[in-house]
Amino acid sequence: SISGRINVAIDGPAGAGKSTVARKVAEQLGYIYVDTGAMYRAVAYAAIGAGIGPDDSDKLGRLVQTLRIELAPGSEGQTVWLNGENVTSAIRTREVTLIVSQIASHEPVRLKLVGLQRALADSKGIVMDGRDIGTHVLPGAEVKVFLVASVEVRALRRFQELSGDQAVPIEQLEREIAERDRSDERREISPLICAKDAEVIDSTELTIDQVVERILDLCRTKTVEA
Ligand code: DC
Repeated sequence: SISGRINVAIDGPAGAGKSTVARKVAEQLGYIYVDTGAMYRAVAYAAIGAGIGPDDSDKLGRLVQTLRIELAPGSEGQTVWLNGENVTSAIRTREVTLIVSQIASHEPVRLKLVGLQRALADSKGIVMDGRDIGTHVLPGAEVKVFLVASVEVRALRRFQELSGDQAVPIEQLEREIAERDRSDERREISPLICAKDAEVIDSTELTIDQVVERILDLCRTKTVEA
């Protein structure tokens, strides 16, 4: 059993299954799940609403100071509030997805959100997923996982999530995912890289529950050591 509370950082590229896995790990541990991608998405959504372009660093920096972003954990996932508005589904549109990586490349945006993220993790007992959690946001996290999967599998998973008027050809999803990987990996500030002390888990041929079990094993080892 797990006694002392620890922090768990789960990073990796888009569509590797981080959020599903992180939510389940948090549920099993009785911890709080924090989806940091949702915070960047909320900023992207606000930028669209304010008519601010994804490359306007100064305006985005000012915008982010006016935003109140709140994450409310629930069994069906977390609800995301932006200045009191429930934006949980609005931040998942393709319009947001296509610009969010660029929005997340600006230093003033990252500074503000990283501050919020660190404050959330202060009291431990957090499972946080993102791109820079193990390397930058919570370098002291007791468990760090870098979750990867092939582009093909990630596109397929995304394809299966989108249906009806949201349907997008799988080849296009593959291209978009590969493009987002590149821009997340190549940005100057806190790029997507595997922390030296992270455990790499390739989920291409694993089920969600198998990935969750592996991470829980890591958590058990850490808390026994602690
Ligand atoms: O995990 P996601 O796809 O919802 O994340 C959306 C974008 O936000 C992703 O393209 C990169 C960015 N992001 C980031 O730069 N740092 C994080 N910690 C989390 C997300």
